[in-house]
Amino acid sequence: MENDGNQKKKKFKVIPPPYRIKMVERIEMTTKEIREKAMEKASYNTFLLPADLVYIDLLTDSGTTAMSSNQWSRMMLGDEAYAGSKSFDRLDGAVKEIYGYKYVVPTHQGRAAEHLMSRILIKPGDYVPNNMYFTTRRAHQEMAGATWIDVSIDQAHEPTSNHQFKGDIDLKKLKTLIDEVGAEKIPYMSIEANINMGGGQPFSMRNLKALKILCDKHQIPVMLDGTRLVENAYFIQQREMGYKVKSIKKIVKEICSYTNGATVSGKKDALVNIGGFLACNDEDLFTEVKSLVVVFEGLHTYGGLAGRDLEAMACGIHEMVDDNHIAARVNQIEYLGNKLLEANVPIVKPIGGHGIFLDAKRFLPHIPQKYYPAQALTAALYIVSGVRGMERGIVSAGRDPETREERKPKLELVRLAVPRRAYTNTHMDVVAEGIIELHNIRKKISGLKMTFEPKQLRFFQAQFKPLKNELIQK
Ligand code: F0G
Repeated sequence: MENDGNQKKKKFKVIPPPYRIKMVERIEMTTKEIREKAMEKASYNTFLLPADLVYIDLLTDSGTTAMSSNQWSRMMLGDEAYAGSKSFDRLDGAVKEIYGYKYVVPTHQGRAAEHLMSRILIKPGDYVPNNMYFTTRRAHQEMAGATWIDVSIDQAHEPTSNHQFKGDIDLKKLKTLIDEVGAEKIPYMSIEANINMGGGQPFSMRNLKALKILCDKHQIPVMLDGTRLVENAYFIQQREMGYKVKSIKKIVKEICSYTNGATVSGKKDALVNIGGFLACNDEDLFTEVKSLVVVFEGLHTYGGLAGRDLEAMACGIHEMVDDNHIAARVNQIEYLGNKLLEANVPIVKPIGGHGIFLDAKRFLPHIPQKYYPAQALTAALYIVSGVRGMERGIVSAGRDPETREERKPKLELVRLAVPRRAYTNTHMDVVAEGIIELHNIRKKISGLKMTFEPKQLRFFQAQFKPLKNELIQK
């Protein structure tokens, strides 16, 4: 249904979700003793915990969505033909209708699309400007030989700044880069919707339009990370002049019209447990992607997915642009965020689109960044409450590929990403209680040292030990 989510805000204190629950999955609360042992065994990295020892799982909003009865029923119609599957046609049609791009190649998930795009477009010695970084996108840019450059606005790195569009590009920084290295060394402008590492923060349509004009002038294609595009569109609808009357569907299409293509992880906005795609308007790029995808993923009509996965994603792409769905989704995050703000818990402002981000620098000012405060806070939160989050600070930022020094990001955060359509606001109440309890004992939390560091994307498998004998002093 296309209407204005804002009107619903006036009627209800919270925006109710446009669905009821037909199937449930049991979750179990554990004891603190069990969680202490589990955390020690997992080397203080929440990625290494067994999921059945997690009560409320806010590790990620990726692939953790509850699918609709429509999606499940479409899956039964999956056409598993190796080539020319009808299910591909439905995905192709959905992407063309909702995003508006001309060409689509499915991939097994978002990073596979990033891999293909980086390999094709980047030459060693190139520079790729980005609005902040996402871990996998930057890794693929760097592995292809590019230097990653941050051209986000300064406010994006300030957790207390209430800037409404922290995903905006600083066009001055971009112009300086173009002047310094020359447009021919910039294979594409990489812009992420609702920047994940910055707290789920949108760019504005105004900024995107200006960016497109600048990039067109220098013949630099604008390549979107459209993973959380719908959440970005929702913030534009709510915050930007002239967009209150426009449907999410129209805003999504308008955003894409100012870009040349996109990589998308379907595991977020598109409401599926697995899937992604690369879409673009340039026929030559499409031809190259099609020839490379068969080496890494599978034929260009299934890209490493089953026919049923293509069906679920095609259906999810239509569901994700329902105004009522996205208003309820973001409002649930606001519900949790406001509870924390009321209790003076330091979180990134404004409240983001896919989760709450605890500001570990202000939460644990006694732990210097070199002792991984956000990692320690993530581990402590699990022990105290059974809630699982993820570090988004110095551990996630990894090392500079040239100097091998640890990157020291300004933002040292714990992300609590809320899966779509999976938890109720009662769960959010429990999460808030756990965080507030932790905030009250914050001085007892100690820092960590790293005992094992993987070569790539270290946060996934890194291992730690508390600096003192226990993470939370008795
Ligand atoms: N881009 C963004 C902005 C993402 O958040 C992710 C994944 C990807 C690309 C890669 O997609 O996982 O399908 O390969 N983010 C997950 C997260 C891992 O928890 O934020 P993928």
